[in-house]
Amino acid sequence: MNKELRPRLLTGDTSTGRLHLGHWVGSIENRVRMQDHYDCYFVIANIQAMTTRMDRPAEVHQNVMEVMLDYLAVGIDPKRSTIFVQSEVPAIAELTVFFSLLVPYPRLMRNPTIKDEIRDKGLGDNYSVGFLLYPISQAADILSFRPQIVPVGEDQVPHLELTREVARRFNQIYCHVDPHAEDSQHLAQGGVFPIVETKLGRTKRLVGIGAPGPDGSLLKMSKSLNNAIFLSDDPDTIKKKVMAMYTDPNRLKATDKGTVENNPLWIFHETFNPDKKWVQEAEERYRAGTIGDVECKRQLIDVLVSTIEPIRQRRIQFEKDIHYVQSLLKEGTAKANETANTTLILAKEAMRQRYF
Ligand code: TRP
Repeated sequence: MNKELRPRLLTGDTSTGRLHLGHWVGSIENRVRMQDHYDCYFVIANIQAMTTRMDRPAEVHQNVMEVMLDYLAVGIDPKRSTIFVQSEVPAIAELTVFFSLLVPYPRLMRNPTIKDEIRDKGLGDNYSVGFLLYPISQAADILSFRPQIVPVGEDQVPHLELTREVARRFNQIYCHVDPHAEDSQHLAQGGVFPIVETKLGRTKRLVGIGAPGPDGSLLKMSKSLNNAIFLSDDPDTIKKKVMAMYTDPNRLKATDKGTVENNPLWIFHETFNPDKKWVQEAEERYRAGTIGDVECKRQLIDVLVSTIEPIRQRRIQFEKDIHYVQSLLKEGTAKANETANTTLILAKEAMRQRYF
Protein backbone atom coordinates (compact mmCIF):
# COMPACT_ATOMS: atom_id res chain seq x y z
CA MET A 1 0.00 0.00 0.00
CA ASN A 2 1.18 3.51 -0.73
CA LYS A 3 2.79 4.82 2.46
CA GLU A 4 0.82 8.06 2.43
CA LEU A 5 -2.51 6.22 2.25
CA ARG A 6 -1.81 4.10 5.28
CA PRO A 7 -3.39 5.07 8.59
CA ARG A 8 -0.97 7.11 10.65
CA LEU A 9 0.69 5.97 13.88
CA LEU A 10 2.71 8.01 16.36
CA THR A 11 4.66 7.00 19.43
CA GLY A 12 8.06 7.65 20.97
CA ASP A 13 10.38 7.67 23.93
CA THR A 14 11.97 10.20 26.23
CA SER A 15 15.71 10.41 25.68
CA THR A 16 16.73 9.26 29.13
CA GLY A 17 19.13 6.47 28.13
CA ARG A 18 19.44 3.30 26.14
CA LEU A 19 16.31 1.24 25.60
CA HIS A 20 15.77 -1.97 27.56
CA LEU A 21 13.62 -5.11 27.46
CA GLY A 22 10.77 -3.27 29.21
CA HIS A 23 10.54 -0.87 26.27
CA TRP A 24 10.77 -3.81 23.89
CA VAL A 25 7.78 -5.83 25.15
CA GLY A 26 5.83 -2.72 26.13
CA SER A 27 5.92 -1.08 22.74
CA ILE A 28 8.97 -1.33 20.48
CA GLU A 29 8.37 -4.87 19.29
CA ASN A 30 4.89 -3.77 18.13
CA ARG A 31 6.29 -0.84 16.22
CA VAL A 32 8.63 -2.89 14.11
CA ARG A 33 5.72 -5.00 12.89
CA MET A 34 3.34 -2.09 12.46
CA GLN A 35 5.64 -0.33 10.02
CA ASP A 36 4.15 -2.54 7.31
CA HIS A 37 0.62 -1.33 7.92
CA TYR A 38 0.92 2.25 9.18
CA ASP A 39 2.61 5.50 8.21
CA CYS A 40 4.75 5.65 11.35
CA TYR A 41 6.16 8.63 13.23
CA PHE A 42 8.51 8.17 16.19
CA VAL A 43 9.32 11.10 18.46
CA ILE A 44 12.52 11.22 20.52
CA ALA A 45 11.22 13.41 23.34
CA ASN A 46 14.21 15.45 24.48
CA ILE A 47 12.21 18.29 26.05
CA GLN A 48 10.31 15.76 28.09
CA ALA A 49 13.66 14.27 29.19
CA MET A 50 14.77 17.75 30.26
CA THR A 51 11.73 18.28 32.50
CA THR A 52 13.59 16.33 35.20
CA ARG A 53 17.14 16.86 33.84
CA MET A 54 17.36 20.55 32.98
CA ASP A 55 20.80 20.65 34.61
CA ARG A 56 22.17 17.76 32.49
CA PRO A 57 21.79 18.94 28.87
CA ALA A 58 24.81 17.05 27.52
CA GLU A 59 23.41 13.81 28.86
CA VAL A 60 20.03 14.45 27.18
CA HIS A 61 21.82 15.25 23.90
CA GLN A 62 23.85 12.03 24.06
CA ASN A 63 20.73 10.03 24.87
CA VAL A 64 18.89 11.30 21.79
CA MET A 65 21.57 9.52 19.75
CA GLU A 66 21.37 6.42 21.98
CA VAL A 67 17.63 6.13 21.38
CA MET A 68 18.10 6.74 17.63
CA LEU A 69 20.72 3.96 17.51
CA ASP A 70 18.40 1.63 19.41
CA TYR A 71 15.54 2.41 17.00
CA LEU A 72 17.66 1.59 13.99
CA ALA A 73 19.07 -1.49 15.72
CA VAL A 74 15.64 -3.00 16.50
CA GLY A 75 14.61 -2.59 12.88
CA ILE A 76 12.75 0.68 12.64
CA ASP A 77 13.37 1.47 9.01
CA PRO A 78 13.97 5.18 8.29
CA LYS A 79 12.95 4.66 4.66
CA ARG A 80 9.45 3.68 5.72
CA SER A 81 9.12 5.46 9.07
CA THR A 82 9.82 9.00 10.26
CA ILE A 83 12.04 9.41 13.32
CA PHE A 84 12.44 12.95 14.67
CA VAL A 85 13.68 15.10 17.58
CA GLN A 86 10.87 16.77 19.54
CA SER A 87 12.49 20.18 20.11
CA GLU A 88 13.38 20.55 16.42
CA VAL A 89 9.66 20.60 15.50
CA PRO A 90 8.52 24.07 16.65
CA ALA A 91 4.86 23.44 15.73
CA ILE A 92 4.70 21.04 18.70
CA ALA A 93 5.71 23.83 21.09
CA GLU A 94 3.17 26.21 19.57
CA LEU A 95 0.36 23.68 19.87
CA THR A 96 1.40 22.98 23.47
CA VAL A 97 0.67 26.62 24.34
CA PHE A 98 -2.74 26.61 22.65
CA PHE A 99 -3.64 23.22 24.18
CA SER A 100 -2.61 24.37 27.66
CA LEU A 101 -5.57 26.77 27.54
CA LEU A 102 -7.97 23.85 27.18
CA VAL A 103 -6.80 21.95 30.28
CA PRO A 104 -7.97 23.03 33.76
CA TYR A 105 -5.01 23.22 36.13
CA PRO A 106 -6.45 20.77 38.72
CA ARG A 107 -6.92 18.23 35.91
CA LEU A 108 -3.13 17.98 35.51
CA MET A 109 -2.69 17.18 39.19
CA ARG A 110 -5.11 14.25 38.93
CA ASN A 111 -2.85 12.40 36.47
CA PRO A 112 -1.70 9.18 38.24
CA THR A 113 1.49 8.92 36.17
CA ILE A 114 2.47 12.45 37.23
CA LYS A 115 1.71 11.60 40.87
CA ASP A 116 3.85 8.42 40.64
CA GLU A 117 6.72 10.35 39.07
CA ILE A 118 6.64 13.08 41.73
CA ARG A 119 6.81 10.34 44.37
CA ASP A 120 9.30 7.95 42.70
CA LYS A 121 11.73 10.65 41.59
CA GLY A 122 11.50 12.44 44.95
CA LEU A 123 10.50 15.71 43.29
CA GLY A 124 8.65 16.93 46.40
CA ASP A 125 7.50 20.50 45.78
CA ASN A 126 10.40 21.22 43.46
CA TYR A 127 8.97 20.25 40.08
CA SER A 128 8.85 23.00 37.49
CA VAL A 129 5.90 24.43 35.59
CA GLY A 130 7.41 22.74 32.53
CA PHE A 131 7.32 19.35 34.25
CA LEU A 132 3.58 19.67 34.92
CA LEU A 133 3.12 20.81 31.35
CA TYR A 134 4.71 17.72 29.82
CA PRO A 135 1.50 15.68 29.42
CA ILE A 136 0.08 18.59 27.40
CA SER A 137 3.29 18.73 25.39
CA GLN A 138 2.89 15.00 24.82
CA ALA A 139 -0.66 15.60 23.59
CA ALA A 140 0.89 18.08 21.14
CA ASP A 141 3.57 15.52 20.09
CA ILE A 142 0.73 13.22 19.20
CA LEU A 143 -1.90 15.55 17.76
CA SER A 144 0.61 17.47 15.58
CA PHE A 145 0.59 14.34 13.43
CA ARG A 146 -3.14 13.59 13.64
CA PRO A 147 -2.51 9.85 14.00
CA GLN A 148 -5.13 7.18 14.36
CA ILE A 149 -3.23 4.97 16.76
CA VAL A 150 -0.63 5.36 19.53
CA PRO A 151 1.17 2.20 20.76
CA VAL A 152 2.50 2.70 24.32
CA GLY A 153 3.15 1.00 27.67
CA GLU A 154 0.53 1.04 30.41
CA ASP A 155 2.01 4.02 32.30
CA GLN A 156 1.19 6.22 29.29
CA VAL A 157 -2.56 5.54 29.38
CA PRO A 158 -3.37 8.64 31.50
CA HIS A 159 -1.48 10.83 29.00
CA LEU A 160 -3.48 9.39 26.12
CA GLU A 161 -6.70 10.02 28.00
CA LEU A 162 -5.64 13.67 28.32
CA THR A 163 -4.76 13.72 24.62
CA ARG A 164 -8.29 12.57 23.77
CA GLU A 165 -9.81 15.17 26.07
CA VAL A 166 -7.76 17.95 24.47
CA ALA A 167 -8.75 16.81 20.97
CA ARG A 168 -12.44 16.59 21.89
CA ARG A 169 -12.46 20.05 23.47
CA PHE A 170 -10.57 21.60 20.58
CA ASN A 171 -12.93 20.08 18.04
CA GLN A 172 -16.02 21.10 20.02
CA ILE A 173 -14.93 24.66 20.73
CA TYR A 174 -13.24 25.58 17.46
CA CYS A 175 -14.68 23.20 14.86
CA HIS A 176 -18.27 23.03 16.10
CA VAL A 177 -18.24 19.29 16.56
CA ASP A 178 -21.36 18.26 18.46
CA PRO A 179 -20.51 17.71 22.17
CA HIS A 180 -22.38 14.41 22.00
CA ALA A 181 -20.58 13.18 18.89
CA GLU A 182 -19.03 9.72 19.06
CA ASP A 183 -15.21 9.79 19.08
CA SER A 184 -15.20 8.13 15.68
CA GLN A 185 -17.36 10.93 14.25
CA HIS A 186 -15.10 13.86 15.13
CA LEU A 187 -13.25 14.04 11.82
CA ALA A 188 -16.41 13.52 9.77
CA GLN A 189 -18.02 16.44 11.66
CA GLY A 190 -15.15 18.74 10.72
CA GLY A 191 -12.85 18.30 13.73
CA VAL A 192 -9.15 18.97 13.11
CA PHE A 193 -7.96 16.29 15.54
CA PRO A 194 -8.73 12.58 15.60
CA ILE A 195 -9.61 10.96 18.94
CA VAL A 196 -6.64 8.60 19.10
CA GLU A 197 -6.73 4.91 19.94
CA THR A 198 -4.32 3.41 22.50
CA LYS A 199 -2.55 0.16 21.66
CA LEU A 200 -0.90 -1.64 24.57
CA GLY A 201 2.00 -4.11 24.18
CA ARG A 202 1.71 -7.82 24.99
CA THR A 203 3.27 -7.25 28.42
CA LYS A 204 1.92 -4.09 29.92
CA ARG A 205 4.62 -3.65 32.51
CA LEU A 206 7.77 -5.78 32.61
CA VAL A 207 9.40 -6.27 36.02
CA GLY A 208 13.07 -5.59 36.63
CA ILE A 209 15.70 -8.12 37.69
CA GLY A 210 16.04 -6.79 41.25
CA ALA A 211 14.39 -7.42 44.63
CA PRO A 212 10.86 -6.12 45.33
CA GLY A 213 10.28 -2.58 46.63
CA PRO A 214 9.41 -1.63 50.24
CA ASP A 215 5.77 -2.71 49.79
CA GLY A 216 6.79 -6.21 48.66
CA SER A 217 5.72 -5.86 45.02
CA LEU A 218 8.19 -6.26 42.16
CA LEU A 219 9.39 -3.00 40.61
CA LYS A 220 9.07 -2.21 36.93
CA MET A 221 12.17 -2.43 34.77
CA SER A 222 13.81 0.97 34.67
CA LYS A 223 17.25 2.37 34.06
CA SER A 224 17.07 4.58 37.14
CA LEU A 225 16.22 1.61 39.38
CA ASN A 226 19.30 -0.18 38.09
CA ASN A 227 17.32 -3.34 37.31
CA ALA A 228 17.31 -3.31 33.50
CA ILE A 229 18.62 -5.55 30.74
CA PHE A 230 19.40 -3.27 27.80
CA LEU A 231 18.88 -4.03 24.11
CA SER A 232 22.59 -3.18 23.73
CA ASP A 233 23.90 -5.51 26.50
CA ASP A 234 26.54 -8.00 25.31
CA PRO A 235 26.17 -11.73 26.08
CA ASP A 236 28.57 -11.55 29.01
CA THR A 237 26.65 -8.71 30.65
CA ILE A 238 23.35 -10.54 30.10
CA LYS A 239 24.85 -13.64 31.70
CA LYS A 240 26.05 -11.74 34.76
CA LYS A 241 22.73 -9.94 35.16
CA VAL A 242 20.64 -13.12 34.87
CA MET A 243 22.92 -15.07 37.21
CA ALA A 244 22.51 -12.31 39.82
CA MET A 245 18.79 -11.79 39.23
CA TYR A 246 16.26 -11.96 42.04
CA THR A 247 14.29 -15.23 42.20
CA ASP A 248 12.52 -17.04 45.07
CA PRO A 249 14.37 -15.84 48.19
CA ASN A 250 13.18 -18.84 50.25
CA ARG A 251 14.68 -21.38 47.91
CA LEU A 252 18.23 -22.06 49.00
CA LYS A 253 18.96 -25.27 47.10
CA ALA A 254 17.65 -27.06 44.03
CA THR A 255 15.68 -29.58 46.11
CA ASP A 256 13.68 -26.88 47.94
CA LYS A 257 10.17 -26.34 46.64
CA GLY A 258 10.08 -23.06 44.72
CA THR A 259 7.47 -20.41 43.99
CA VAL A 260 6.83 -19.50 40.37
CA GLU A 261 4.38 -16.66 40.97
CA ASN A 262 5.90 -13.19 41.19
CA ASN A 263 9.31 -14.62 40.46
CA PRO A 264 11.23 -12.61 37.82
CA LEU A 265 12.95 -15.77 36.58
CA TRP A 266 9.59 -17.19 35.46
CA ILE A 267 8.10 -13.90 34.40
CA PHE A 268 11.03 -13.57 32.00
CA HIS A 269 10.72 -17.17 30.75
CA GLU A 270 7.00 -16.71 30.17
CA THR A 271 7.60 -13.44 28.35
CA PHE A 272 10.59 -14.31 26.19
CA ASN A 273 11.06 -18.10 25.92
CA PRO A 274 9.45 -19.37 22.70
CA ASP A 275 9.65 -22.98 24.01
CA LYS A 276 6.37 -22.90 25.97
CA LYS A 277 6.49 -26.64 26.66
CA TRP A 278 9.89 -26.39 28.35
CA VAL A 279 8.70 -23.46 30.45
CA GLN A 280 5.60 -25.30 31.62
CA GLU A 281 7.53 -28.45 32.55
CA ALA A 282 10.36 -26.54 34.18
CA GLU A 283 7.89 -24.52 36.26
CA GLU A 284 6.38 -27.76 37.57
CA ARG A 285 9.81 -29.13 38.42
CA TYR A 286 10.73 -25.83 40.10
CA ARG A 287 7.63 -26.08 42.27
CA ALA A 288 8.45 -29.69 43.12
CA GLY A 289 12.11 -28.99 43.85
CA THR A 290 13.54 -31.11 41.04
CA ILE A 291 15.30 -28.45 38.96
CA GLY A 292 17.95 -25.94 39.99
CA ASP A 293 17.87 -22.15 39.62
CA VAL A 294 21.13 -22.28 37.72
CA GLU A 295 19.78 -24.54 34.99
CA CYS A 296 16.72 -22.32 34.58
CA LYS A 297 18.90 -19.24 34.49
CA ARG A 298 21.15 -20.78 31.84
CA GLN A 299 18.13 -21.40 29.64
CA LEU A 300 17.01 -17.82 30.17
CA ILE A 301 20.44 -16.49 29.24
CA ASP A 302 20.26 -18.40 25.93
CA VAL A 303 16.80 -17.03 25.21
CA LEU A 304 17.72 -13.43 26.01
CA VAL A 305 21.01 -13.53 24.14
CA SER A 306 19.27 -14.83 21.03
CA THR A 307 16.70 -12.00 21.29
CA ILE A 308 19.20 -9.24 21.98
CA GLU A 309 22.36 -10.25 20.10
CA PRO A 310 21.05 -9.54 16.56
CA ILE A 311 19.89 -6.12 17.78
CA ARG A 312 23.26 -5.39 19.37
CA GLN A 313 25.12 -6.44 16.22
CA ARG A 314 23.05 -4.09 14.07
CA ARG A 315 23.67 -1.31 16.59
CA ILE A 316 27.42 -1.82 16.28
CA GLN A 317 27.17 -1.37 12.50
CA PHE A 318 25.27 1.92 12.86
CA GLU A 319 27.64 3.15 15.60
CA LYS A 320 30.45 2.94 13.05
CA ASP A 321 28.76 5.58 10.91
CA ILE A 322 27.33 8.10 13.30
CA HIS A 323 27.23 10.85 10.64
CA TYR A 324 24.91 8.72 8.56
CA VAL A 325 22.73 8.12 11.63
CA GLN A 326 22.60 11.87 12.24
CA SER A 327 21.61 12.51 8.63
CA LEU A 328 18.72 10.04 8.99
CA LEU A 329 17.51 11.91 12.06
CA LYS A 330 17.78 15.22 10.24
CA GLU A 331 15.78 13.93 7.26
CA GLY A 332 13.14 12.47 9.56
CA THR A 333 12.86 15.75 11.43
CA ALA A 334 12.43 17.69 8.15
CA LYS A 335 9.61 15.36 7.14
CA ALA A 336 8.03 15.65 10.60
CA ASN A 337 8.10 19.45 10.31
CA GLU A 338 6.14 19.31 7.05
CA THR A 339 3.37 17.26 8.59
CA ALA A 340 3.28 19.19 11.88
CA ASN A 341 3.26 22.58 10.11
CA THR A 342 0.26 21.50 8.05
CA THR A 343 -1.55 20.58 11.27
CA LEU A 344 -0.59 23.88 12.90
CA ILE A 345 -2.11 25.84 10.01
CA LEU A 346 -5.33 23.83 10.25
CA ALA A 347 -5.44 24.41 14.00
CA LYS A 348 -4.79 28.16 13.69
CA GLU A 349 -7.44 28.48 11.01
CA ALA A 350 -9.95 26.69 13.21
CA MET A 351 -9.06 29.00 16.12
CA ARG A 352 -9.31 32.10 13.88
CA GLN A 353 -5.73 32.94 14.83
CA ARG A 354 -4.16 32.89 11.40
CA TYR A 355 -3.45 36.53 10.62
CA PHE A 356 -1.19 36.66 7.59
N1 TRP B 1 6.12 9.79 27.73
C1 TRP B 1 6.64 8.74 26.87
C2 TRP B 1 7.55 7.85 27.71
O1 TRP B 1 8.03 8.28 28.75
C3 TRP B 1 7.43 9.28 25.70
C4 TRP B 1 6.62 10.10 24.75
C5 TRP B 1 6.78 11.43 24.48
C6 TRP B 1 5.55 9.64 23.93
N2 TRP B 1 5.90 11.83 23.54
C7 TRP B 1 5.13 10.77 23.18
C8 TRP B 1 4.91 8.40 23.76
C9 TRP B 1 4.06 10.68 22.29
C10 TRP B 1 3.84 8.31 22.85
C11 TRP B 1 3.42 9.45 22.13
O2 TRP B 1 7.81 6.74 27.32
